[in-house]
Amino acid sequence: MKRPIAAVIGTGRGIPLTVMTNHDFAAIGIETSHEWIVERSGIVERHIAQDGETTCSMAATAARAAMEKASVQAGQLDAIILSTATADRLLPSTAVDLQAELGASRAAAFDIGAACSGWLYAMTVAEGMIATGVAETILVVGSEKMSSIIDWKDRATCVLFGDGAGAVILQRAKTGKGILSSFMRSDGQLANLLYRPAGGAAIPMSAQVLEERTHLVKMAGREVFKHAVRSMSEAADRALDIARLTGADIDLMIPHQANVRIIEATAKHSSIPMDKVYVNVDRFGNTSSASIPIAIDEAMEKGVIREGSTVLMVAFGAGFTWASMIIRF
Ligand code: ACO
Repeated sequence: MKRPIAAVIGTGRGIPLTVMTNHDFAAIGIETSHEWIVERSGIVERHIAQDGETTCSMAATAARAAMEKASVQAGQLDAIILSTATADRLLPSTAVDLQAELGASRAAAFDIGAACSGWLYAMTVAEGMIATGVAETILVVGSEKMSSIIDWKDRATCVLFGDGAGAVILQRAKTGKGILSSFMRSDGQLANLLYRPAGGAAIPMSAQVLEERTHLVKMAGREVFKHAVRSMSEAADRALDIARLTGADIDLMIPHQANVRIIEATAKHSSIPMDKVYVNVDRFGNTSSASIPIAIDEAMEKGVIREGSTVLMVAFGAGFTWASMIIRF
């Protein structure tokens, strides 16, 4: 089937108001420094959800903004696909809570779990649903309350993450604009390099789990770093090949915002200069699968993405999973 099949017609974001700076870690007893965090990751501050702010509520804020820009009513949505690693409840999906919140009564709603790559996975699934005629108009959201699953006593991880949501409305393409290529891969052999060992069906929550803190994120940072650079570079190449484009054809690259060093290495691999790379990890930290749709919405608002811009997105996350997509806006 000839692309573009599906186009982005509206974007939005939902960001908690509360900002936590690198200096604020001292107040919660974390031995770290602003300089260490900036040098290793590029992160200066992140937004942290407060009581009452949930994965669903941030998603709803992002979704409403995207629907307004797209002039789409909740009743027009055929599907809601929400990527998250931080579902509000284990059953049912956060997507159905979002459906109820929006009043999107006609929609089929479900979550996708592919960690930081999840939003690109969700976009690829949504494009397929439009291609097969299952749906015409789909809300695709990435929403993450990472503050609820990170170990606030582990300085090697807790300084890296933040909370937030981003959303787009994807609709059948009517012009030459839309998704030009997509690519997805995973390698479950490497699952234990970034994971939550317990708290699921295999090792359910118990007093021991809570005490040992094995329900929280564990990460082999150096290994993750190495694989992230390699896999994101591969993903960027594949999206360019499939679309028959080169780095020179790309107006803007939006990599998953995990770490500025990973971003720089990926951009260099694809010969994309840093002035064509969108970076907001300094202000948001790593918001997992929300990071790319948040960045898209900001870039649209600032006019960095314009009518006709060709944008390469690339992500990597737990699983490991990695993915890429090129969209003409
Ligand atoms: N503040 C101060 N010191 C710290 C901190 C901290 N917050 N965290 C760790 N350290 C110390 C360690 O204890 C260690 O001390 P030691 O040498 O005395 O043992 C030292 O700093 C070096 O630790 P490393 O883990 O080797 O540091 P590294 O240079 O690898 O940086 C980091 C760590 C930032 C986690 C890096 O490996 C990284 O960015 N990895 C990628 C992780 C990532 O992005 N994960 C996100 C999920 S996947 C994704 O979204 C792509």
